[in-house]
Amino acid sequence: MCVRGFASGELVCRKGEYQLDLCFILRGTVDLYERKADKNTFKVASLSEGNFFGELGAIRGQPRTTDVVAAADDTSLLYIPRHCLTFLMGNPVARRMVTERYQERAVRVLAQGLELFKGVAQEFIEQLIRSCEIVRHETRGIPLIQQGEEADALYIVSDGAVQVVVDRPDGSHRILEYLRAGEFFGEMALLGGGVRSANVFTAGRCELVRLDRAAFMELCQRYPKVETHVRSVIERRHRQEKLITPEISEILERSGQLGYVQAAALLVMDLDLCVKCDNCVKACEALHGESRLVRSGVTIGKYLVPVVCRHCEDPRCMNSCPTGAVERRPEGEIYFQYDMCIGCGNCAIACPYDSIAMIETGKFDRAQAKKAAAVGRPFYRPYPVASHCAAPGLWERISAGHAKDEPERLTVVEFAQIHDRNETVSAATQGQVAAEPQVPVAFPIKCDLCNGLPFMGCVHNCPTGAAMRVSSATLFGQTQAIRGGSGPVRKAR
Ligand code: CMP
Repeated sequence: MCVRGFASGELVCRKGEYQLDLCFILRGTVDLYERKADKNTFKVASLSEGNFFGELGAIRGQPRTTDVVAAADDTSLLYIPRHCLTFLMGNPVARRMVTERYQERAVRVLAQGLELFKGVAQEFIEQLIRSCEIVRHETRGIPLIQQGEEADALYIVSDGAVQVVVDRPDGSHRILEYLRAGEFFGEMALLGGGVRSANVFTAGRCELVRLDRAAFMELCQRYPKVETHVRSVIERRHRQEKLITPEISEILERSGQLGYVQAAALLVMDLDLCVKCDNCVKACEALHGESRLVRSGVTIGKYLVPVVCRHCEDPRCMNSCPTGAVERRPEGEIYFQYDMCIGCGNCAIACPYDSIAMIETGKFDRAQAKKAAAVGRPFYRPYPVASHCAAPGLWERISAGHAKDEPERLTVVEFAQIHDRNETVSAATQGQVAAEPQVPVAFPIKCDLCNGLPFMGCVHNCPTGAAMRVSSATLFGQTQAIRGGSGPVRKAR
């Protein structure tokens, strides 16, 4: 946790940045700004003392949805990191406050960007916000809609992805599509035959906005353009369904099982182009002192997907870190903040894709020193962890919420003290200070997309252009390309 002070007009955060803290306004006011297509901004809301923002980032891991600017001198914000939210949510009043605000803003933000609601009056959208329901699921494979059932609602995906599967008369099934944030499902039965045409399952952690039948029908009646749009989507889906061969269905199924659908930056190697020189692996080792890349993994169509961090949309490593040492840069890369790391290995255990390795501290130090030398930075050892050093007044300092020019980031020691306050307080009262620093025996390493360097080592050093980073939406949006039918996919960056 930290407290930051801002002068009037100072930028707190930009739209699109991954700042995942919940921010409480301790003093002053902030204004929220949206950006129009012509890049001009307009104010959408003002929040004052006692209010908060950042619930979409803290709960869902979503980047900031507006620019936030301090609107009064001496504005002071308390930053509660994402990993501390569970403690806060233990308080029923705080939980209700944050959850209600989250629901309202999540639907409003979603509605703003949807083609489905184009031309719909704001009052009607507000009515929908009040009547809809938010449903969250944490794992894949949960049935949301069953083929043949009566239709009772339309669902809009607000986070994550769902998988559409059709059962065929011969007893087989085919994966038709993954639908992601901003897409809807359940429209066919509502506007057509009355019964569901396919099954829909969660494809991982996901969040849905459920509009009941009556609300959806009223929307279509009042706004015929909405119905026209939905019918055009149905036609497109019927056309696309005809292209799904058993082979494509199999590729889609495996990709879902392997979690590729949730990847924000997937490393893929076009096997038609790869000459197996291993330059990608060598470049990784040369840059980081230790290669985080192994040129083996799963083959999807003509692409090899090596076992390497894919910077998940829903990063379990980040959610499992007890000290907040796994962070996301404003641009989306997930990296380790080593001075916060206590070497517990939770991140490596939590990663479902084996993309994080724990390496012994001496080896880690040598690799870090080599990397620091390569980029011309001094090398400092990660913070040594002292157990339960007493720091009288720490809790009071945090609670009082000093305004500071620089973010006041808690060290792991301070975090541990807040975590275990009673022990700290009693240690402080008795004036005990634990002297022995404890250095973790191992540290986690993984790909951080060569953060801090002007290029990605593996991609940059591939002599044939076989290695590339793509978003899963790019890869799976081009299923023909995955099969090898229509050339390479477009690179993400
Ligand atoms: P409905 O028939 O009400 O319930 C199943 C839903 O799956 C259907 O509405 C669509 O929303 C969705 N669906 C069916 N076929 C496809 C497809 N080819 N592509 C994407 N979504 C589909």
